[in-house]
Amino acid sequence: MIYGGFILTEILETTKKNLLKAAEAIRQNGLVAFPTETVYGLGGCAFSEKAIVKIFEVKKRPRFDPLIVHIAEKDDYNLLCSTIPSPAEKLIDAFCPGPLTLVLPKREKVPDIVTSGLDTVAVRMPSHPIALQLIQYSKCPIAAPSANRFGHVSPTRAEDVLSDLGDSVDFILDGGPTLVGVESTVVFVTEEEIILLRPGGIPIEDIEKVIGRVNIKRKMSKLLSPGLTKKHYSPKTPLYIYEGNLEELVKINRDDYALLTPAPLLVNDITIYPLSQAGDVKEIAANLFHQLRKLERMDYRAIIAIPVKQSGLGHAVMDRLIRASTGTVKIENQKFVFIDR
Ligand code: TXA
Ligand code: MG
Repeated sequence: MIYGGFILTEILETTKKNLLKAAEAIRQNGLVAFPTETVYGLGGCAFSEKAIVKIFEVKKRPRFDPLIVHIAEKDDYNLLCSTIPSPAEKLIDAFCPGPLTLVLPKREKVPDIVTSGLDTVAVRMPSHPIALQLIQYSKCPIAAPSANRFGHVSPTRAEDVLSDLGDSVDFILDGGPTLVGVESTVVFVTEEEIILLRPGGIPIEDIEKVIGRVNIKRKMSKLLSPGLTKKHYSPKTPLYIYEGNLEELVKINRDDYALLTPAPLLVNDITIYPLSQAGDVKEIAANLFHQLRKLERMDYRAIIAIPVKQSGLGHAVMDRLIRASTGTVKIENQKFVFIDR
């Protein structure tokens, strides 16, 4: 397609013919961006070092940040992992396919570059039919990080991939907007414990219903999850989390600032950007990244985000907001006070 005068990667409709074309590119060490139920992924054959090197280069992602390997059948956990502890088996039964990634001991054949040299591999079976079909046609597991530039907001539309990665991928498969909107939950699983590495599409409360207590490490060890940088997912416009009450906020002049709220506010004449009309957390998660990308294209000095309730998917939404943020903002003497972190 032609975009701003340049010829860029084709965005493909997801016909069988196009899926086969994309799978052929994967088999030839190429890169294909594809929809999953969470966000779009930038995929390459997990066994092709050549493809994996390209993924890191295209994303400008540091090599110490390992990739998730996507599979299309539950049995393929055995192909990639040397042991499946019993809690992991329960999680696979309960949540796969779906937005849950398990970090497990890796088999030798998984290239070190995929796992950044760790002796574990992160594996997920997505539930999106196009993702599953692409993996099946490619005849290999697909390593895929989110298909955004490293540090930028994750893509929930084919156009987001195009604007971040331009012509550096072979094909972009267009599956429309993604359903869940935030990335998968990542857990490290051993026989003795489950450690939450990243809150995501499967709420931690749901996991605890299946296997009991999950260890939530407030301070993430670099060794357990080297990719969990404090700042991530950032829009180009600085974002601040609001700390204060809403009555105060609506009283002062905020025209230069975009107010990102979980639901509409019951006041007239002020422009706000509600993530959900009903304050529904699923809808909030589904709209979050899309709204951040829309707001960064507008002329606001900053985005002020009102926190969401921290339960269920709300954990993942707050995690993304906090990591997207430059700091917090409060009101003193009817003026905003911004505090960078
Ligand atoms: O929903 C998702 O998970 C999306 C879609 C495309 O599947 N993928 C995604 O990938 O979010 P990425 O690369 O943006 O995030 C992967 C996360 C990183 O925080 C990385 O550090 C962690 O998973 N990770 C990968 N392999 C790991 C390992 N062996 N041990 C610990 N953490 C790992
Ligand atoms: Mg990512």
